[in-house]
Amino acid sequence: MEQEKDYRMVSPDFASQEDESEASLRPKTLHDYIGQDKVKENLRVYIDAAVARGEPLDHVLLYGPPGLGKTTLAGIIANSLGVQIRITSGPAIEKPGDLAALLTNLNDGDVLFIDEIHRLSRSVEEVLYPAMEDSAIDIIIGKGPAARSIRLDLKRFTLVGATTRAGQLSAPLRDRFGVLLRLELYTPQQLAAIVGRSAKILGIEIDPDGALEVASRSRGTPRIANRLLRRTRDFAQVMGSDIITEKEARYALDRMEIDELGLDNIDRLLLTTMIEHYKGGPVGLETIAAAIGEEAVTIEDVYEPYLMQIGFLGRTPRGRVVTRAAYSHLGIPVEGQQTIY
Ligand code: ADE
Repeated sequence: MEQEKDYRMVSPDFASQEDESEASLRPKTLHDYIGQDKVKENLRVYIDAAVARGEPLDHVLLYGPPGLGKTTLAGIIANSLGVQIRITSGPAIEKPGDLAALLTNLNDGDVLFIDEIHRLSRSVEEVLYPAMEDSAIDIIIGKGPAARSIRLDLKRFTLVGATTRAGQLSAPLRDRFGVLLRLELYTPQQLAAIVGRSAKILGIEIDPDGALEVASRSRGTPRIANRLLRRTRDFAQVMGSDIITEKEARYALDRMEIDELGLDNIDRLLLTTMIEHYKGGPVGLETIAAAIGEEAVTIEDVYEPYLMQIGFLGRTPRGRVVTRAAYSHLGIPVEGQQTIY
């Protein structure tokens, strides 16, 4: 299934050239990384222990919604171990040979980061198993009955895999990771701290209320917060303000049609479609997807986590349901609906 790129203002996907400069905002050490406290504390122990033993870190799987800093963490892991990082993604590795080439080029202890690791093909995955387990790959030479396999030893390395959906990983692959870390959506306070830090790096003046306003509308996601910070700066600049306060932030976010909770037009369309056409549910994911013209996987990975976190959407065995809180936020009366959750 191909996941479409969408270009919403609040999309957590990398959407533009500008987001490349996201790299300059990435913290390089665990100390500078804000939030995800449980992940950070445990990771620090694993890294320190591996360094003390002089061994590579065990393979790490990072999972959770997009835009929460999985690539950033992989960079921090490599940096803390004092090794190089090679970055690639599941869909970019088309053939077993592509992965073999990557693996044989690693130096001792290096980190190989594979984003969207759930999208590796089965034949590529099979190259990964002996690489992860025994630091070796099996190369098949010849064809038919004369085919032989030769084992090629690799340098020791750490695989860092990232996925939005741990459930889609095959069991043999999942079982080969020694460290599983789940990233969670950030609180508005944590995001406000990230916005403050990014503003400093970008030379943008923002006061604490302005930062909290941007943060509260960033659906728990640093990548969105950083993007909204830049757009808010554009509005502030055109308004002739050289500092972003709550007023500038509110004005900019309203102009972008992002509401107080960070919902944009598509979130509202999703909820109102469920309410108006399906009485608020239960309604199946595929039906919702068809009704609003989005891919089911996009709804599941991008829209749902936040709508569920703020309690606007629920999952039942018979499908998705809109909650009373969402009706209230949208200003839609609940009478005449099927069951209210
Ligand atoms: N920029 C993006 N994510 C971040 C984080 N978790 N901490 C600090 N800066 C960030």
